[in-house]
Amino acid sequence: MIGGRSTNFDAIARMSGQPAERTRFALDELNKRKLIGFAGENYVVYTSALDLLALKHYADKDYAMALGKLIAKGKESDVYEVLSPNSELFALKLFRLGRTSFRDVKRKRSRSKDDSNTWVTSNYNAARHEFAALLRLRKLTENVPTAVDQDRHTVLLQELPGVRLSQRPELDDADGILSVILRTAREAYTVSKMINGDLSEYNILTDGRRVWLIDWPQWVGPTHPNAAELLGRDVFTVLRFFLRAYGVKVDDERALRYVRGEVESLKVRRARSSTRGSG
Ligand SMILES: Nc1ncnc2c1ncn2[C@@H]1O[C@H](COP(=O)(O)OP(=O)(O)OP(=O)(O)O)[C@@H](O)[C@H]1O
Ligand SMILES: [Mg+2]
Repeated sequence: MIGGRSTNFDAIARMSGQPAERTRFALDELNKRKLIGFAGENYVVYTSALDLLALKHYADKDYAMALGKLIAKGKESDVYEVLSPNSELFALKLFRLGRTSFRDVKRKRSRSKDDSNTWVTSNYNAARHEFAALLRLRKLTENVPTAVDQDRHTVLLQELPGVRLSQRPELDDADGILSVILRTAREAYTVSKMINGDLSEYNILTDGRRVWLIDWPQWVGPTHPNAAELLGRDVFTVLRFFLRAYGVKVDDERALRYVRGEVESLKVRRARSSTRGSG
C-alpha cells in the first residue's frame, strides 16, 4: 500500500545530499525490497517502509529488539508483539486506516485543521491522537493500556494479558468487572472530558480479574456535536453485552447518569448465577 506522497528523482537527490548515481542505486535497492515503488515518473513510499522506519525508531530508543507474533489484525490496525532488550513485551499498533473504507478514515482522523486526506495524514494523526489520549487517561486510571512511545503511524503500548471480552471469558466477578468499566468511563468523562466513542466488548480486554478499555483514537470531548449520542451508545453497548453474556443487569438510564457524574452510585443486579459467558 502506498504510504507517502509521490516525489520525483531530482527532489530526492537534492534532499539526500548524495550524488545522483548513489541516489539512483539506493532507490533501486529500496525498490527491489518492495519498500518504494513508482507512480509514473515519481517515486512513492510504501507503508512497509514506514513500518520499518517506525521499528527503527523504537529499536534506536531501546524499546524494541525483535518483532514477535501478530497479536491481532483489526479493521483499522495491525497489532504486533515486540520484545525489548530487557525482555519486556510491548504491543505495537500500526494504523492501517483506509484499508476498509473512507468513512472509517474520516471517523478516526483527529480533528485537526489539516484537511488533506492522504494516508500519512490520517494514520499519523490517529496514532498521535491515541497516544495523547492514553497519556491523559493513564494519569487517572490503571484500566487503560500504558502508552510507551509514538512514532509515525504507530503507537507502542504495554502488552496486556488476557482476551477481548467478546470471547466471553470466565470472570471472577462479572458485576465487579462491569462496575470497573463504568467507573472508568465515568472518570474518563467527568475528569478527562473524554468519550471513547467506540466502546464495546471488542475494545475491552480482561484477564478475568482486571479489565482495560483500549482503542481510543476516535475519542471525542463533551462539546462534540455527537457527544451525548456517543456516550449513550458506549454505555448501552456494554450493558447489553453484560446482560446477554453474563446475566448482569443495570438500569440503562441510571448507568448513563452515573457515567455522566450525575449520581454517585450504581446498582448492579445479577439475573443469573453463572459468571461464565454464555452463548
Ligand atoms: N496493549 C495491547 N495488549 C495486547 N493486545 C492488544 C493491545 N492493544 C490491542 N491489542 C489487540 O489488538 C486488537 C486490535 O486493537 P485495537 O482495538 O486497538 O485496534 P483496531 O484496529 O481498532 O481493531 P478493531 O478494528 O478490531 O477494533 C485488540 O482487540 C486486541 O486483541
Ligand atoms: Mg478495536
